[in-house]
Amino acid sequence: MSQSLIALVAALGGLLFGYDTGVISSALPFLKQAFQLSALMQGVLTSVALGGAAIGAIGAGWLSDRFGRRPVILVVAAIFVLGGVVSAIAPVLSVLIVGRVLVGAGIGVASMLTPIYLAEIAAPAGRGAIVSLNQLMITIGILVSYLVGYVLSYDAGWRWMLGLGAVPGLVLFCGMLTVPESPRWLAGHGRNDAARAALLRLRSDPAVADAELAELRADLHKEAHVERRAQLAAQRNYKPLIIGVGLAIIQQVTGINTVIYFAPAIFKAAGLGSNSATILATAGIGLVNVVMTIVAMRLVDRAGRRPLLLTGLAGMAASLCVLGTGFLLGGSGGFLGWITALSLAAYVGFFAVGLGPVFWLLISEIFPLATRGQGTSAATFANWGANLAVALTFLLLIDGVGAGLTFFIYAVFSLGGFVFTWTLVPETRGKTLEQIEADWERTE
Ligand code: BGC
Repeated sequence: MSQSLIALVAALGGLLFGYDTGVISSALPFLKQAFQLSALMQGVLTSVALGGAAIGAIGAGWLSDRFGRRPVILVVAAIFVLGGVVSAIAPVLSVLIVGRVLVGAGIGVASMLTPIYLAEIAAPAGRGAIVSLNQLMITIGILVSYLVGYVLSYDAGWRWMLGLGAVPGLVLFCGMLTVPESPRWLAGHGRNDAARAALLRLRSDPAVADAELAELRADLHKEAHVERRAQLAAQRNYKPLIIGVGLAIIQQVTGINTVIYFAPAIFKAAGLGSNSATILATAGIGLVNVVMTIVAMRLVDRAGRRPLLLTGLAGMAASLCVLGTGFLLGGSGGFLGWITALSLAAYVGFFAVGLGPVFWLLISEIFPLATRGQGTSAATFANWGANLAVALTFLLLIDGVGAGLTFFIYAVFSLGGFVFTWTLVPETRGKTLEQIEADWERTE
């Protein structure tokens, strides 16, 4: 099995992240009817998976350091299957909530571990593209969830929508049985023969595999020294943490998931008619997300991280102002519907070209080797925590201050994100991880 095929199997973790977070937007209108949900309960149902994800993200780093990447991904795949089935057959709301918490825990672990596994199996030259495959699969998962939602938009269809997440879970489980453990994890645990065998499967040319193993071992040796230094420097070493956690929060408080999770509700509020029309409009948004992520993947190593982030954030702020103004002016369905659809598409496009992929990429780059696991875990936890806060407050804000002002609030956060990026986020394009680390030491 080639490296690309192995990466594709692991990136199913991203597909599940996308599908299982996106599907709630298609299912929500039907769940609202089936369980007579209030605004608060809709927020809660959307949010329980996010709470589960935050907890999963904290545990993932430790579990996978202790037991290996592969066994943890296998368990997570099983949890995805279980959570999907429980949600699908739920006779009452409480069982549905249990199913969604299970799925959420799976999403949290996958969101942290998929990029780590991908980075650790990738040949150094292609690492950027391989890690970004995760975000591409997230956006494809979201799009598929919308299409499934469209096809199944009838009263009891929500059961299939939630249950179908079990299918990629099953494929991930079977696929992970056939892929090797991360060579980096194996070498880090003194299992050099197994690490070599894994590298041989990934690289096919024994000379390349041996050269990489030698490099890996030299790196681990260096890492042991770096760790001691890093422990000493830890108290001064807040900058990557501030940037990682800051970007994690900015990625969420600028409102992306109000669109990803609640797009049908937003389109309804803007006057689009039936459930299936709103879901179809939502699928258009999902397609923009996929296409612009591909554009970002092609640009990120040429234009750099900062230009993409800054352009994305400025574009998001502008689109949100148009969206907010559309809602403030009100007016009848047709015109407002168009303004809403176009500005939402522009907003998602700007997110997909910047904050979407670049956040996950940067948190795999900016932390020094010795603190990378903990740093990534902290940023991932902050990302899910902020996601939860936004999901819990969005529908309440809409009820309280109205859609127009709500989108202006997200526009202000986008501008804040622009200033944060401009002043703090370093350019990492073309640098080795060691150079990035050395840059921190210089600026201390
Ligand atoms: C974010 C998710 C979001 C997705 C949308 C990811 O980078 O972390 O919260 O739903 O992008 O494409």
